[in-house]
Parts: sequence; structure tokens; C-alpha cells
Amino acid sequence: MKIITSVAELRAHILRWRTQAGLTAFVPTMGNLHAGHMKLVRHARDIAERVVVSIFVNPMQFGQDEDFKNYPVTHERDIEALADADADLLFMPDVSEMYAAGPEHTTQVVAPTGLRTVLEGEFRPAHFNGVTTVVAKLFNMIQPDVAVFGEKDFQQLLIIRRMVSDLNMPISIEAVATVREADGLAMSSRNSYLCAAERAIAPRLYQTLLDVRDLLLKSEPDVDAVEASAMEQLRDAGFRPQYVSVRRCADLGMPKAGNEARVVLAAAMLGSTRLIDNVKVSST
Ligand code: PAJ
Repeated sequence: MKIITSVAELRAHILRWRTQAGLTAFVPTMGNLHAGHMKLVRHARDIAERVVVSIFVNPMQFGQDEDFKNYPVTHERDIEALADADADLLFMPDVSEMYAAGPEHTTQVVAPTGLRTVLEGEFRPAHFNGVTTVVAKLFNMIQPDVAVFGEKDFQQLLIIRRMVSDLNMPISIEAVATVREADGLAMSSRNSYLCAAERAIAPRLYQTLLDVRDLLLKSEPDVDAVEASAMEQLRDAGFRPQYVSVRRCADLGMPKAGNEARVVLAAAMLGSTRLIDNVKVSST
């Protein structure tokens, strides 16, 4: 596996590739790789001749009081895992290589208002513009045919799909289902922040989403009441929930009656760790 840290060297490498046949698949990450990330890499490996992974903890997508400075960095372990998974190229630039003028002065790609301001966007106002900006830059550098994202970050996935469509980027976006621990907790780099007592409580977030899903499948309940009682369930378990919300899968709008595909999304603080998760409302 080739490891590259400079944009110039990356470009030279990509230019050579573009003269060869076959697809390039790209998996953007912030590192501290776990089985969820590795499922994305395996998917990329299955569908493309060349697999590029990036590791870059993007300062632009963290708020002032968020965990940018403490975000777990495990480069050695990550490199080993990616080499084992047969990735072809790992791009791991530093902040000055990505943002020559500094992240606060860069040209930005602004995520669409409707998707940017709800749910995660309400609690992390600058987050998605940071994500769209860095992903657009990485797409321009790597010029992949396919990019792979996790459903774990459902809102991010929809925003990236919209960005690619709105800006006519010739890249197809593929989604991979959330990988969970044996007790249901969605794998996340942030799980390492949890102390043992919090770790024992954490799977209740997924359980609560499953309960909401089951209620929605069983009857046509008052959705507001179901969301409120799920918030209460999380509070009782020891979380400080930020939202539990039933939305349309297609655009995160409020579902109307009928057979629109729905997803239940939630965010909750557990101690000082922020957890997010989501479950689609279907019986499978
Ligand atoms: P990061 O949190 O490292 O996640 C990288 C990719 O892995 C994302 O597409 C995310 O949805 C996926 N992922 C994370 N946990 C997963 C799980 N348990 N199961 C399946 N997929 C999972 O998301 C980001 O980084 C950043 O915002 C990024 C897109 C790299 C832009 O900076």
C-alpha cells in the first residue's frame, strides 16, 4: 500500500492511474479505524480495481467546544489494517497541506439548507459545511469513480449524495449498512471516550430506536408522542438526548401518511460523549 501525504504526489499518482482501465473507489475517513470503516474498505475492494482511503481529522467540521483536539489518532494500527485489507493508496495529509490558507479562510462548499440545518445541523451548526468542503476537496484530488459512505451517518450520506448531484460531480455514492458491536452499539471512534459504566448504558440508544421502529410498524401511533416517550426512555437510562426524530429516508423531511420509507434518527449525550444512531423503519 502506497502512503502519500502531499497533494502534489497524490496528483501525480492519480494521473498515472487515469490512463489505466478500471474503477477507482474512495473511502474518506478520520482514522481510528474500526470494523465499520473496514466494511466500507472491503466494499470498495469488491467493486473497484483501485482503492483509495483517506485519513484526515478535518478541523472545519468540528465546533469550538467539540473534540477536535482529543480525536483519537491511531495511525500505526490504521495503516496495518488498511494494508491487510489490500487498499492500494492511503492519503493522510496534515492540516496545512489540506488548507493552505487555514481552514477558516478557505473557499467553502455550502451544504443545502434544508438538510444542513435540521437534526445534527441544529446541534452542530457549522458541521456539514465542513464535511461538504473537505469531501469536495478530496473528490477533486482523488477523482474517484465511486465513493463509499456509512449509513451510520445517515444525514451526512444524504448531504453527500445531494452535493454530488447538485454540483454534477461524476461520482457514484454507495452506502454501507451500520456495523454494530455484539450488544447493538453502533461502532464509532467516539465509543473509546466512554467509561465502563457509560459503555454498559450505550446500547440502550439502539434499543430505543428499535422500540420506536417496532411501535411504528405495529400501528399508526401519534409520532410526536412516540418521539417524546423515546426521549424519556433515554433520559431514564442516563442519557441527555438531543433529538429522536422519525423522518423520510429520501430527504429527512417530515413523513406524511402513506408508504414513504422512514428512518428514526437520534443523538444523545452520555457523560461528555455524543452518540448518534439511526434505524430504518422496515421489518428486515
Ligand atoms: P468517520 O467518522 O471516520 O467515518 C468515515 C466513514 O465511515 C463514514 O462514511 C461513516 O459513516 C462510516 N462509518 C463510521 N462508523 C460506521 C459504522 N459503525 N458502520 C458503518 N460505517 C461507519 O464521517 C467521517 O469520518 C467524516 O465526516 C468524513 C466523511 C471522513 C469527512 O471528514
